[in-house]
Amino acid sequence: MNSVRTVLKSAAMPMLPALVAALRDLLGPKGYADDPAELAPWLTDWRGRVTGRAAAMLRPDTAEQVAAIVRLCAAAGVPLVPQGGNTSMVAGAVPGEADDALLLSLRRLNRVRRIDTEENLAVVEAGVVLADLHDAAAAVGRRFPLSLGAKGSATIGGLVSTNAGGTQVLRHGTMRALTLGVEAVLADGARFDDLAALPKDNRGYNVTQLLIGAEGTLGVVTAATLRLSPAVGARAVAWVGLRAPADALRLLRRLERALGDAVEGFELIPAIALELVLRHVPGTRAPLGGAWPWHALVEAVAEGAPDPGEALATALGEALAAGLVGDAVLAASERDAGEFWRLRESIAEGERAEGPGAKHDVSLPVAAMPAFLEEGAAAVGGAFPDTRVIAFGHLGDGNIHFNVGAPSTAGADPARWLAEDAPAITRFVNDLVAARGGSISAEHGIGQLKRDELLRLSDPARLGVLRAIKGALDPLNIMNPGKLVPLAEEGTGQ
Ligand code: MLT
Ligand code: ZN
Repeated sequence: MNSVRTVLKSAAMPMLPALVAALRDLLGPKGYADDPAELAPWLTDWRGRVTGRAAAMLRPDTAEQVAAIVRLCAAAGVPLVPQGGNTSMVAGAVPGEADDALLLSLRRLNRVRRIDTEENLAVVEAGVVLADLHDAAAAVGRRFPLSLGAKGSATIGGLVSTNAGGTQVLRHGTMRALTLGVEAVLADGARFDDLAALPKDNRGYNVTQLLIGAEGTLGVVTAATLRLSPAVGARAVAWVGLRAPADALRLLRRLERALGDAVEGFELIPAIALELVLRHVPGTRAPLGGAWPWHALVEAVAEGAPDPGEALATALGEALAAGLVGDAVLAASERDAGEFWRLRESIAEGERAEGPGAKHDVSLPVAAMPAFLEEGAAAVGGAFPDTRVIAFGHLGDGNIHFNVGAPSTAGADPARWLAEDAPAITRFVNDLVAARGGSISAEHGIGQLKRDELLRLSDPARLGVLRAIKGALDPLNIMNPGKLVPLAEEGTGQ
């Protein structure tokens, strides 16, 4: 049998005319596209960092077709890059610049197969857009409690494959907690079906969990069984002005004591992030009159009675009186609440419009995060003058997007800054995180953009397991090659 090292070397091979003919025949005109203009929007990642190459885009509309595609490509040794909404933050869903892969779009697999209100679960296909699942669940008095800024494009397959987090992890967990089972096509074309989602099942390794967060490197997720929650009866949303991140964490703990697990959103937003949104996103306005260095967006929900609004107002009033909070406003209507959330969910868009930046998605033990936010920003400011730290996100999960915006001087040649300066900043930030025992990828995954850093900072045991699993399940390296698992050639670490 080939060693992992040998098989991972087998790079993409040129696509064979016979393969093209077989794929065209299998998929028909709706399912096969090779017009460069049609492919172009899907070959560059959302951040605009990588533009890959693909000879064609395959658009199957059934899981059977996905299995047939994988069998044909495995026989020809041609790699596949699965893609949903193309919203990856780490270029995980576009081919590499030197690849000769086929893009496998799952967007036509967009059926909600079943919603079971007794069992509180939904069986949905990979191409279902997150916002459409929200609507489908709401129509039967349920909800899928995971949301993020890209909900209008991100698909279930991508969310499963990246173990997405979002803004309700505090209470409901990441996709690992919300996904009860998956259906997937493995690298040899075999179909794995765990959609029954049995509450008890000890048939060995948990294959569903292995495929969640695998970034399509072990197989293609075609459907998932997801956990639903009761619909929200009432919600209360507040925007809070704060002096320091430590106060934000104290406020979160205080709210949890007062409201229990009704607190399901607690997002930290620095003044600079709000400023970028107000500058670049039309129709936005600041919720508070004064200027605060930090803000928190808080959401408390009740699935039945009572309305959490009064309890949240009381708890915030007490925090104000205690000097923990600088100012706060409760959303007076659903419309206000939506506007508060829009500010938070537009931060990535505001950053993108502002100019280049080095993006980091780090996690630490929650209690260590406030000190890291202050110390890390000071250290970055000292080492890289004129940069701007834009650190925001999921404080209650210990997960902050510790981004560093380029100095204005980079505007003349942003590509040079991204190629030369940004990697040094990234290594600096990740070293700070690693020294504190944290993770350099809390929710965005590794994709193409974090592979070098995963290799540099992972211990040999972790790398060895990643490579062994990849080599065992995808010996031809045709499943989203160049993502997540650092190649053996890049360093052994062993
Ligand atoms: C967010 O929390 O807004 C997303 O993870 C996107 C980002 O990191 O910019
Ligand atoms: Zn996030």
